[in-house]
Amino acid sequence: MNVLLIGSGGREHALAWALSASPLLTKLYAAPGNAGIAELAECVALDAADHAAVLRFVAEAAIGFVVIGPEAPLVSGLSDALAVAGVKHFGPSKAASQLEGSKGFTKDLCREAGIPTGAYGRFKDAASAKAYLAAQPVPIVVKADGLAAGKGVVVATTRAEAEAAVDACFAGAFGAAGAEVVIEEFLDGEEASFFALCDGTTALALATAQDHKRVGDGDTGPNTGGMGAYSPAPVMTPAIVQRTMEEIIQPTVAAMAARGMPFKGVLFAGLMITAEGPKLIEYNVRFGDPETQVLMMRLTSDLLAAMLATADGVLDHFDLRWRSDAALTVVLAANGYPGPPVKGTEIRGLEVARMVAGVQIFHAGTRRDGDRIVADGGRVLNVTALGQTVAEAQARAYEAIAKIDWPGGFCRRDIGWRAVLREAAGE
Ligand code: AMP
Ligand code: GLY
Repeated sequence: MNVLLIGSGGREHALAWALSASPLLTKLYAAPGNAGIAELAECVALDAADHAAVLRFVAEAAIGFVVIGPEAPLVSGLSDALAVAGVKHFGPSKAASQLEGSKGFTKDLCREAGIPTGAYGRFKDAASAKAYLAAQPVPIVVKADGLAAGKGVVVATTRAEAEAAVDACFAGAFGAAGAEVVIEEFLDGEEASFFALCDGTTALALATAQDHKRVGDGDTGPNTGGMGAYSPAPVMTPAIVQRTMEEIIQPTVAAMAARGMPFKGVLFAGLMITAEGPKLIEYNVRFGDPETQVLMMRLTSDLLAAMLATADGVLDHFDLRWRSDAALTVVLAANGYPGPPVKGTEIRGLEVARMVAGVQIFHAGTRRDGDRIVADGGRVLNVTALGQTVAEAQARAYEAIAKIDWPGGFCRRDIGWRAVLREAAGE
């Protein structure tokens, strides 16, 4: 079957890599793709926001299955357009994508379904938001309701900071996404990323993972899309995974079905593992980036078959197999990130770096310029490695990074530190 993959990040390169290994695949197309994806797929210059153009291409290229990587096309209803045209696809409907598209929607659903999450309030004006704040302890979290590319969240340590975040939101700092504000209890604990394939009724957990959101070593500095990740995540013990499925994922799938908006795709729960157990921070309706890079390294089952089973609603007859090895990925970002990145700098040494045992290099923001690979985004490369332990995967990833010649970029030097410490302590 011919498959069209929508997206251009490191997540999509990892998905393309796993899809390419499927015996069910005839030809892979990617829109728009990147320089790394181009080695596995034919890249086409399609705008995913132009649903009619996507449908025309699907007909022309006899595409049998469309995999939607990023959230924006999901929230804007690309799945619905494909469904109307009878095109099989992986990714939830516009209605189900509200789980990511509206934080208030998700909080209300959690309250109704009894899903553990922080206490919260939803506000459409600054005065009522501030009145609520006055009665809350700090730290407290202020969020723009809608999609703000990961930037609409302020963890405020003082009430003045929280009030300033409310004012910034209503002053339009996040555009339409900030027309409503959610104020949320601060949850204390360790974060983990949890993924489950959902076919509308059945949920199937993927392997566990953890990412590093802050730009600096020691988890300091501003938030980013993710500077590195590893799998498995030691904090996600089998007991915590079971509680997450029973207390968070399954009730969500049931509540969405009951609302007439069944969730079909991959549900990504951002969790806080608190002293009382796992609590939901937020949902995303797509794979994580860079978590997908480590998950695809460990997956031994056929990804395309799993996605088809999700779309066909037959996950109850499906199973996923994983390598016992650990995987770790380090993000190489362009100087300036998470602010405006410097683009166009040349990257050398990738051919040598990828020869390190167990290493795969996934491209995120790269572009081919003649014979050269140049940086073309904030997060640029994901140097990913397998190892018997997280420590071994980490050593291999940094060994490969040492062979990459790219003065225009930087990376964190401590990806995986929590898991490596736990391994060293023999936990
Ligand atoms: P989000 O975009 O909702 O994932 O939030 C970005 C980051 O802010 C999360 O990864 C957490 O580190 C932090 N955060 C968000 N909500 C909370 C919360 N209720 N308690 C503690 N930290 C939070
Ligand atoms: N790594 C977090 C995300 O994909 O949103």
